Amino acid sequence: MKWVLENVFSTLSIIIGEIVMNFLEILEKKRDKKELSKTEIEYFITAYTNNQVTDYQVAALVMAIYLNGMTDQETTDLTLAMAYSGEVLDLSTLGEVIVDKHSTGGVGDKVSLILLPLVSSLGVPVAKMSGRGLGFTGGTVDKLESIPGYQTAIELKQFVKNVEQIGISMISQTLNLAPADKKLYALRDSISCVESIPLIASSIMSKKIASGAQKIVLDVTVGKGAFMKDMEEARKLSNMMIQIGKLANRETACVLTNMNEPLGYAIGNSLEVMEAVQFLKGNMPKDLKQVVLELGAYMLQLANKGENLEENKKRLLENIQNGKAYHKFLELVQKQGGDISYIENLEKLPKATYIESIYSEEDGYIQEIDSKEVGKLAGMLGAGREKKEDAIDPSVGIVLSKKVADRVEKNDVLAYVHANDEDKLRETKIKLKEIVKVSNGIVEKGKTIWEVIK
Ligand code: URA
Repeated sequence: MKWVLENVFSTLSIIIGEIVMNFLEILEKKRDKKELSKTEIEYFITAYTNNQVTDYQVAALVMAIYLNGMTDQETTDLTLAMAYSGEVLDLSTLGEVIVDKHSTGGVGDKVSLILLPLVSSLGVPVAKMSGRGLGFTGGTVDKLESIPGYQTAIELKQFVKNVEQIGISMISQTLNLAPADKKLYALRDSISCVESIPLIASSIMSKKIASGAQKIVLDVTVGKGAFMKDMEEARKLSNMMIQIGKLANRETACVLTNMNEPLGYAIGNSLEVMEAVQFLKGNMPKDLKQVVLELGAYMLQLANKGENLEENKKRLLENIQNGKAYHKFLELVQKQGGDISYIENLEKLPKATYIESIYSEEDGYIQEIDSKEVGKLAGMLGAGREKKEDAIDPSVGIVLSKKVADRVEKNDVLAYVHANDEDKLRETKIKLKEIVKVSNGIVEKGKTIWEVIK
């Protein structure tokens, strides 16, 4: 199989002595709200990728970008500089349209684990580079790595070979694909600079361009547990990513979805793998099902596998019901070195020492489950990281028993806490009881899919 790699910046020569000076000029410009040129942005990204500027200097620049923003031109230049900071895959030789999917991040967001084997089972090749948890949100890579043996860091050649042989591969960003984004992603997380439209748009689109996507479907989450808190911000981010897609000749569609409450019921790595596997076997929580089908219908459409969105949804459901999507997931896990006996028998997946419930103190309806707060609690239990070098505890997290607008009676279980530490268990139970709010009156359920922008 023939595939092409390019490294646009490998020929740039950099003189270390000058870099410090030039970098300081760039920093000063952004600090003073001036627009950076394409050359300055490429210079910053090249120097950072090659470890020629320090993390603290780049942290200052990232904070200046976070506070002062970027013009559309700067964001586009940043995206392309990051995309070409390493190798750029050309998968056109696979002979099919390569459609990729990415989410702007959420709590309980296990959509990739379900959707990608599902569309692959319908003949859409999937070459997916995912991220780790960021801020209070979870990451697909951490979830995949909770399956014993699953290798997310495989050779690029193997990545492409897997797509060629079984129609799917899901990896982490440990390879030389958009290495600048990998460094910036971790840095932003450690200095509270995640929620920025130019930084999110460039992070996502650079990864998609580098990993060979020809068409892209983006799940732009909106609400308390998302980085975009309202529709106006979400539309701005979507339009930015669509525009970058156009300039890079990658058709992009954005589906704006509700992230006010966690998606599905499970939050935490193994717990979300379990929910994803159960979904693939036909047990589909309503909100998760809507998101999977909506994104999937657009993926099939962009891949030229069906114009009619409703028909596409039917075909997606068919492949859940006939077991093809589940079998594709097993194939994926096996191909990446994972032990499928953990998927065939979910009881084998790592379990927390303490599994305890919280109960409703009254009759009523679930009014609110703030997903950001739930995400933070799951992180505190060990499902996320405080520092970038922290290890994840795959077994811990929270499993909700109720969703917003559900009826509850006094003493009904509201949620289960899975913990490996008694103090954290106690603290989580107390806080979770405050987060899951019950009201006397009927609560109207918000929409799951807000709108689609193309
Ligand atoms: N996902 C990404 O890949 N990058 C971001 O900045 C946010 C979500």
